Amino acid sequence: MEFSELITIRQSVRKYQDRPVENEKIAQLIEAVRLAPSASNSQPWKLIIVNESGLKDKVARATFSKLVSFNKFAPQAPVLAVLTIEKPKVITQIGGRLKDREFPLIDIGIAAAHFCLQAAELGLGTCMLGWFDEAAVKKLLHIPEKTRIGLVIALGYAAAGYPLRKKIRKDVKDMVSFNSY
Ligand SMILES: Cc1cc2nc3c(=O)[nH]c(=O)nc-3n(C[C@H](O)[C@H](O)[C@H](O)COP(=O)(O)O)c2cc1C
Repeated sequence: MEFSELITIRQSVRKYQDRPVENEKIAQLIEAVRLAPSASNSQPWKLIIVNESGLKDKVARATFSKLVSFNKFAPQAPVLAVLTIEKPKVITQIGGRLKDREFPLIDIGIAAAHFCLQAAELGLGTCMLGWFDEAAVKKLLHIPEKTRIGLVIALGYAAAGYPLRKKIRKDVKDMVSFNSY
């Protein structure tokens, strides 16, 4: 698949088939995250694959919102991938402080993009979930108290006939300029 096609077909999937994800595909997704670039090559993440169904359902429920019907689809996904934010190399920590930059946040965003794009190439759907009860997810997955979770990513086969939506995006004129802000 051409990269331009891949970025067009990747979309957030919020309806999944009751079908497991093959271990070989999960291995390819792990490799896609492993190869992601990061500031000073710190690779400041851990990837937790949650595919044990009882545990996975509990993590999925920790992504619900009490206020709105957010993420109610999450339990349908047969796999949840959790990306933690780990301490980067000392040089990156110093650079980040000197320059007031959160390099690990940028890094895990790129790692998540690798995961989702690789999934799309493999015929799988994903949805990045930034809304979750962090303390509850940490407890369920035995993540140390001081470690932050960057993202939870729902993964699975999109429901049959799940439509490819038209992308709603800003106009080019509203998001790009040449040579000056
Ligand atoms: C950092 C981040 C957090 C997100 N959190 C959620 C979420 O909690 N629930 C959800 O349904 N979608 C979530 N999304 C998906 C976005 O809503 C989606 O990417 C955006 O609307 C563009 O649609 P598309 O992914 O289908 O192209 C999140 C996306 C990102 C990048």
